Amino acid sequence: MTDISVFVDSRGGNTKKVADAIAEELGVKVGDLRASQSDDGKILFLGSGTYGSKPGEAMMKFIESGNFTGRNIAIFGTSGGFAGGQKMITAMADTLTRKGATIVGSYHCRGKTFLINWGHPTKEELDNAKKFAREMFNRC
Ligand SMILES: Cc1cc2nc3c(=O)[nH]c(=O)nc-3n(C[C@H](O)[C@H](O)[C@H](O)COP(=O)(O)O)c2cc1C
Repeated sequence: MTDISVFVDSRGGNTKKVADAIAEELGVKVGDLRASQSDDGKILFLGSGTYGSKPGEAMMKFIESGNFTGRNIAIFGTSGGFAGGQKMITAMADTLTRKGATIVGSYHCRGKTFLINWGHPTKEELDNAKKFAREMFNRC
């Protein structure tokens, strides 16, 4: 049994960087979203980029098809703008809550897209993701 799992849906690689920072901080590897999910463990980190104010399809499929009853979940993501990221996190949180999960917290930062947000996620944003990871782990 692994106590900590990290899964990410990242089309462009920005959110994967955040997932890698979280996994590194907690000494685990980022799991494969397409492989089956374990039903135990202390905390699950789920992250996605924001596409039309929504999480990626692979992440939504993962959430819709999984059993999250009684699971502690921390959500993370990246987005072009702040509001889009918030909407995406809310969409994930609502679905997971409906499926019986406990949302322990969330973190999102900017990710580069087309001509904006060059250099994001920055080192500072990735350091903040690590702090978030540690805090979420300690909370469970
Ligand atoms: C097709 C597409 C749609 C996007 N839609 C939004 C959006 O609705 N709101 C937003 O804030 N950012 C949006 N973005 C920006 C991405 O959320 C941002 O670049 C994010 O870091 C992408 O994560 P990824 O590199 O992990 O895929 C969009 C980007 C793409 C490519």
